[in-house]
Amino acid sequence: MSATIIDGKALAAQVKERVRQQVETFSQRPGLAVILVGDNPASRVYVDGKKRDCAECGIYSEEYTLPAQTSQRELLELVEALNGRADVDGILCQLPLPQGLDERAVLRAIAPDKDVDCFHPYNVGELMIGEQSFQPCTPAGVMEMLDAYGIDVAGKHAVVLGRSNIVGKPQAMLLLQRNATVTICHSRTPDLAEQCRRADILVAAVGQEGLVTADMVKEGAVVIDVAMNRNAAGKLCGDVCFEEVAQKASYITPVPGGVGPMTRAMLMVNTLTAARLHGKG
Ligand code: GUN
Repeated sequence: MSATIIDGKALAAQVKERVRQQVETFSQRPGLAVILVGDNPASRVYVDGKKRDCAECGIYSEEYTLPAQTSQRELLELVEALNGRADVDGILCQLPLPQGLDERAVLRAIAPDKDVDCFHPYNVGELMIGEQSFQPCTPAGVMEMLDAYGIDVAGKHAVVLGRSNIVGKPQAMLLLQRNATVTICHSRTPDLAEQCRRADILVAAVGQEGLVTADMVKEGAVVIDVAMNRNAAGKLCGDVCFEEVAQKASYITPVPGGVGPMTRAMLMVNTLTAARLHGKG
């Protein structure tokens, strides 16, 4: 088999176009505030991308670029001020924060109805019981991809590699909500290859180049690569050995051009959702 390549870039453009059309029907423009602390170059690129996405979708955006020396109090005061602003529907604090700042406290300070990352424990709890307003962007982007390509997950065995709070755990929850049988694998899982071979849908979110080889993939499986690694040559790559796995999978996502653009598109969807929660649409 040679896999169909899931085109995350094209799909993300469609999702953003849908958001743009919805925004036009709103009584007030949705707004997103993005906070960037310090000068992490990767974070800079991500934040620039998010601002571009907002502009494309007709969403108002503002950026707060703070020096790495910013105190916890200053950061929390900014979040509090944004919580109180009616023109700001979503607040995103780009991670990682510089050393010395308490990420956990900052994420908890963001009002749950403005938590477009879906990182606040309230929203994580809502997700757990299946009553969420927001879905975390990366796992939601994966579900959107599966839906767009007509891949029904109900009754399928989904194996998620990685148990992070940002991807692995919420991904498992979303797959479970859609009636997949879900296995979460991690660094202490014995027989990783054996577990992977049982997957109808394999989601790799570990951050280890070359982790998933063709011998670990069942013939006809759907393989979603969430990771963003840089190989020795500095090139972007995922966890999956793309060329060899594409020979066995039925569907596969590339890196770049797969899950990454979808993550950004889903942030726009969540900002729209937040604006709806605030009565704008
Ligand atoms: N850093 C890397 N990915 C993300 C994300 O999805 N949200 C935030 N806030 N920071 C990130």
